[in-house]
Amino acid sequence: MKTDRLKKEFTEFFGAGREPEIYRAPGRVNLIGEHTDYNDGLVLPIAIDLSTYGLFRLTNEDKIRVYSENLDKFEEIELANLSRRKGNWTDYVRGVLSSLESRSKTISGFDLYLSSEIPVGSGLSSSAALEVVTAVGAIKTMNLDEVEDLDLIKLCQKAENDFVGANTGIMDQYASYLGREGAGLLINTAEPSHKFVDLGLKGYELLVIDTTVSHTHDDNEYNRRRRDCERAVNAINESTAGKTLKSLSDIPSEELDDILPQLEESLANRTEHVVRENERVEKAAGFFQQGRIKEVGELFFASHDSLRDLYEVSSPELDYLIEFARAEGIPGARMTGGGFGGSTIHLVPESQMDEYLKKASRVFEEEFEITPDGFPVSPSDGAKFQN
Ligand code: GLA
Repeated sequence: MKTDRLKKEFTEFFGAGREPEIYRAPGRVNLIGEHTDYNDGLVLPIAIDLSTYGLFRLTNEDKIRVYSENLDKFEEIELANLSRRKGNWTDYVRGVLSSLESRSKTISGFDLYLSSEIPVGSGLSSSAALEVVTAVGAIKTMNLDEVEDLDLIKLCQKAENDFVGANTGIMDQYASYLGREGAGLLINTAEPSHKFVDLGLKGYELLVIDTTVSHTHDDNEYNRRRRDCERAVNAINESTAGKTLKSLSDIPSEELDDILPQLEESLANRTEHVVRENERVEKAAGFFQQGRIKEVGELFFASHDSLRDLYEVSSPELDYLIEFARAEGIPGARMTGGGFGGSTIHLVPESQMDEYLKKASRVFEEEFEITPDGFPVSPSDGAKFQN
């Protein structure tokens, strides 16, 4: 079993002693609701069956020794310097631990062995999984005070925002922690609060195709889109007497026709995307529950078109795969995650899965001379419900 292998590796790396405790946190795929989570909007992600594992063992040292199997890198983090940013992969761990320290003041030394199944840069939230597994494992291993679900999620998001410098929303950490087998997580990020949505996928599977063209979260473009949205809110509030929008999601869709012409073109486009994407999420959640996958698929395509044309976060590789999906006649497909590369999600009839994936990989490789990475995913339990 995987956990046995990891325990063995742990012992080989850190030496014999007490058995380490194993925790894990999954990656996520966002089904629909892109670039809405930092606009107080709706999102519908799932936790997936690929996880980051963390093996923890307390020590008597004044430091945390951490090894990443994927990177084959080792570092020591002095307890006295927990809140010092390092500018590398350990910042995710440091960020989470320094937040925990400011809550409970009792961080002790431990050894941590990390191993991840989530491809980095694929848009499947390997970073959120690392934050969540660090938080859950550290809390349990050190027996720290219980942390409320939302506090834990926010603490992980804060690590990403403040430590890593990626101004991301709350979706990824939320899905990694609270995802549930067989269900989508319909999150209203304004509150934030969530409902589980039965995905009614009968006869269909969710296929991820990762373009393997890497994107980074601290990419300026992501933060620039956020700023565009803030500028749009300010412009609307200034130009419309009595308007006090907090976010673009406060705009009722029937007001779009009046509002959009007042904005400069790119801000109008961002605004239209956010308002319509929220509507698509709500509709998709309903269609999923009714097993109306064809209708869900149409919303997927519409979401992709909007991300490509209005939000401008797609890439030629992502667009190529979505056009392929349309030409093959599957119900729907779209880019998923922040964009600028990364992954796509496809709704594929079970009976066509093998053939579809083979063909997609072949034509993509012919077009770009890059081998994409395709695999079906299923909605899985988040970190809270595992172990
Ligand atoms: C990244 C961020 C999320 C979200 C998506 C876009 O994955 O981490 O918070 O903003 O992009 O929907």
